[in-house]
Amino acid sequence: MSTVLPSRSDYRTDHPYSEQHLGSTELKPSFRIDLRNYSNKDYDKFVTVKTVRDWSLLKWKHVGKPYEVKTVSKSRRLWEQEHEATMEAKTSWIYFNKAFHEWFDKDVPQEIKKQRQAFFKSISAFNPAEISEVLGDVTRIHLWNYVHRIQDGVWDPRGKPAMFEGLDVHKPRILFLGAAEGYEGMQLAAMYPGAEIVLVDYDEYCKTVRYGDFPESYPFLGMNPATGGQKVYYKNDFQVAYVIDDIRNLPFGKEFDIVISVGLLEHFPDNHKAEVMDWHRKFLKDGGYVIMTTPRNQWKSRLFYLIMADVMNHTYRELMNVEQMGLYVYENGFNIVRHGYMKAHNAIIAQPR
Ligand SMILES: C[S@@+](CC[C@H](N)C(=O)[O-])C[C@H]1O[C@@H](n2cnc3c(N)ncnc32)[C@H](O)[C@@H]1O
Repeated sequence: MSTVLPSRSDYRTDHPYSEQHLGSTELKPSFRIDLRNYSNKDYDKFVTVKTVRDWSLLKWKHVGKPYEVKTVSKSRRLWEQEHEATMEAKTSWIYFNKAFHEWFDKDVPQEIKKQRQAFFKSISAFNPAEISEVLGDVTRIHLWNYVHRIQDGVWDPRGKPAMFEGLDVHKPRILFLGAAEGYEGMQLAAMYPGAEIVLVDYDEYCKTVRYGDFPESYPFLGMNPATGGQKVYYKNDFQVAYVIDDIRNLPFGKEFDIVISVGLLEHFPDNHKAEVMDWHRKFLKDGGYVIMTTPRNQWKSRLFYLIMADVMNHTYRELMNVEQMGLYVYENGFNIVRHGYMKAHNAIIAQPR
């Protein structure tokens, strides 16, 4: 397989990668592009586990409850002090989406250089408060560099396709609940050509900026229906409708082949979980698939949400393992088709019982 990287002249176009670049990976200033095959036998894939053979036998006493992330972002704390009220969910998502998106925009090597200079400046000024603040900035940019740019643990373009493969769908209609930038919807559409994606998020910024500014030059590895081989797709190749609304207001019937959410369930305490699962069932055709992911409860993730608290922790959040996640899905009326994990998230594919 070729590992050719784009030539200088290729970079001038919006679509610098094509089938000749299959198998290659490249570090850009803000993200990694990765056209390596996801079926390689290494850890960069979706690991299907078979820890639970019969979900009806699994009980909460066997698996315990998820870990709740308790650290709260500075902006939420200040907002609540100022308003003498608890920040409501939609406002907290507006704060989160803006704070999170700014990190995807960073030129990371430039930022590391800038933070390093700021650190040495703060040392020479010998101001302990400033040193501590700058140290925090240095830690965060290095962590982001590792998690998102080096490891590609947020988008995970190898783990996610491995999880999405093998669904019995043809030109699927895909509904993405709480879509933000819609990455996984686009990845699914690359793998199942002819797909129609409906992205839903009640934060308008997600449509205009998170999805709107998602780089047109980012290549998605998918399937070529003409040859059965692989093909490189870009954002503008996909048929996308973006709905800005509360999931609770959606007018759709049971018309989707796939309903997906990525990082939604864990933001609702247990008394709301059944409602969240209903959202996934409500719009699904008979025989359709629900795909859900939630962040894993592992020490790396707990550390990430601690260090990145000001970027990430505006909302209620749990970290769980795939057995806990599966139990929520199973006890709310779904059969589990596949369960496993990727770098940062657990994943479940399920169908209503
Ligand atoms: C944790 S984010 C996950 C999004 C995305 N996968 C990401 O990595 O950033 C959840 C998204 O769901 C949206 N959301 C939460 N509750 C919603 C609701 N009731 N209706 C519509 N969107 C909602 C939020 O605005 C947010 O963009």
